Amino acid sequence: MLLNITALPGDGIGPEVTDEGIKVLDTVAELFGHQLQLNKKNIGGAALLASNDPLPADTLQACLASSAVLLGAVGGPAFDKYPSHLRPEAGLLRLRRELGVFANLRPATCFPGLEECSPLRAEVVRGTDLVIVRELLGGIYFGEPRETKGATGSRIATDTMRYAEFEIERIAHIAFRMAQARKRKLMSVDKANVLDCSRLWRSVVNSVARHYPDVALTHMYVDSAAMALVARPSEFDVVLTENMFGDILSDQAGAVVGSLGILGSASIGGKVGLYEPIHGSAPDIGGKNVANPIGAIASVAMMLRHAFNLEAEAQCVEAAVKKVLETGARSRDIARSGESSLSTEQMGTRIKGALLKVAENTPMVPG
Ligand code: IPM
Ligand code: MG
Repeated sequence: MLLNITALPGDGIGPEVTDEGIKVLDTVAELFGHQLQLNKKNIGGAALLASNDPLPADTLQACLASSAVLLGAVGGPAFDKYPSHLRPEAGLLRLRRELGVFANLRPATCFPGLEECSPLRAEVVRGTDLVIVRELLGGIYFGEPRETKGATGSRIATDTMRYAEFEIERIAHIAFRMAQARKRKLMSVDKANVLDCSRLWRSVVNSVARHYPDVALTHMYVDSAAMALVARPSEFDVVLTENMFGDILSDQAGAVVGSLGILGSASIGGKVGLYEPIHGSAPDIGGKNVANPIGAIASVAMMLRHAFNLEAEAQCVEAAVKKVLETGARSRDIARSGESSLSTEQMGTRIKGALLKVAENTPMVPG
């Protein structure tokens, strides 16, 4: 199969973790007889510096012409001075919108052996295996008006949270189908005691639920969901929520399972899927070869699964990550004090090595 992919390394640790993701893609292509056609483009701060636009036209065109996009991270304090429409984050939001990717899947799994990395007690996090289905193109991220008015001292800033029924409906279907493929449990998270958007959210999710009588639907307010996520994370399964709540809860889920650095994500439902680690650009460690590439590599696995329907390949990548963590290999974010840690590149190479071994025992690989 032709794997026609645009890579957008971006800022901070984005480029170094993306390189390790590409290393794994290369290995998969070689092992399974696929042809990797990779096109690297600028986004975010890197694009701003190169061409004064956080999402240059040629980047967008390349993304739209490919079958999947692999993104590193965008942003950094150097870009705080730019007006809001030129910020690196604006480039990413525009990309999501142009691609039409309204469904952001963010799994968070506590790998055996990583329980000790969580700030929570091991017995609390053990077995945590959840997925947040985050609405990605609506809510307060995109609602209009958004503006700051007035003179310094009396400025007023406005953001608008806004949802249309169809936006809630389409993401709810994705979440119900995800629940059907898992434990048939779905929790929808909102703030329906305060927000109109959330009341509409709850009403539409309840209507969609009629199509899925086999799924047990519950609702929870976001504040109590945040509490439950640290108190009883292993009871969560599929969580459906709107854009900003999903942004916040997914970072929290990262800490719960040991490190945000190990989480990948898939943004789907549009013309071309976007695959990116959940962590940000971490500018303080950018370029130091200490970042954890597992989030990027997990995103590659999700890309193989969702963009190319290559389930065996995706599972091999996931098995390789699991194996490497089982051997005790640790990047800096998941090493405990006194434990030695691997660089970004070394971790990627270990996972590549494990992938070669896993694939040896996979009948799918052409001999
Ligand atoms: C994320 C990030 C982005 C978001 C930023 C960089 C725009 O935090 O993917 O979670 O808020 O969606
Ligand atoms: Mg975030």
